[in-house]
Amino acid sequence: MSTQNYVSHADQWEQRATIRSRPRRVVEDDALSYYPIERQPLYAHPTIMDAGQEVQDYILLQSFYKYINDVIIFETEIVNRTALAIAKSRFPFDFPFACKSDAMSVVIDEHYHAYVAMDYLDQVERSTGIAPITQNNEIELSRAIPRAIAHVPAQYAAGMELLAVAISENTVTTEVAAFSRDATLKRSVKGVMADHLADEGRHSIFWINLVKLYWSQVDEAAREALGLGLPYFLKEYLTNELQLEFDRRLIESLDLPRDTREQIANDMVGAYPITSKHPMIANIRKFLKMAGLLKHEPTRAAVGAYL
Ligand SMILES: [Fe+2]
Ligand SMILES: [Fe+2]
Repeated sequence: MSTQNYVSHADQWEQRATIRSRPRRVVEDDALSYYPIERQPLYAHPTIMDAGQEVQDYILLQSFYKYINDVIIFETEIVNRTALAIAKSRFPFDFPFACKSDAMSVVIDEHYHAYVAMDYLDQVERSTGIAPITQNNEIELSRAIPRAIAHVPAQYAAGMELLAVAISENTVTTEVAAFSRDATLKRSVKGVMADHLADEGRHSIFWINLVKLYWSQVDEAAREALGLGLPYFLKEYLTNELQLEFDRRLIESLDLPRDTREQIANDMVGAYPITSKHPMIANIRKFLKMAGLLKHEPTRAAVGAYL
């Protein structure tokens, strides 16, 4: 791909960006849930089922708070760090103007998503009268990106960061899509997710095209180094440590005897298996293919365990 082949999404953004086109989402007072049951295995634990609907609802609500908090960290600290560097020409690669201006539109979208998330979280907190428990101040990517960068020579740090952000922007999209289709969820939750999804479809194509361009222009030494860095990134990205840490705090916050809480926590250890059937892995594979990385033999071999 040459720099002339890159097509800007500016026209699409002007017409469809949610910041330009969608009304505020307001939480409604009904019995529907905030979070999909199948995304929180704790919900179906026999002791939690016995504890009753109020406890189960509390678990979904707290899981929703965590999800929203993670989204805010992802948008503001991970995606926008890289997108802004590209937009402001601080990224060590000469992207054409169309890429930089599209990157700036991504910065706007992500900050808007974080704003919507904060607003909706505040509405839910007021409407339920339940405050979030202590939140994680990191997401998996906060650790995975610096760790992957540590595995490549210094001159490839920015390239590694670009691949990592592009991969994560392509995995988040399908997650949000599943959310927006769930019939047990409140209309406003689905609305927030559907709005987010509308922008993320554009972003996922943006990151694919950006990486495609980058990958075709850097030299072979860069491609080899980045290809070798990828499995370190994927290994650190696809972990469940932070989810388990959060779930332990959530279990601790329940009004149940200490022995019971310990028992539940022990039962939850294997609750988030990450196997080759994990939906995120299918998305990662699709991204690597579409961005042209799998045509590079050494890279294909390096990520062989995920193909
Ligand atoms: Fe976003
Ligand atoms: Fe995004």
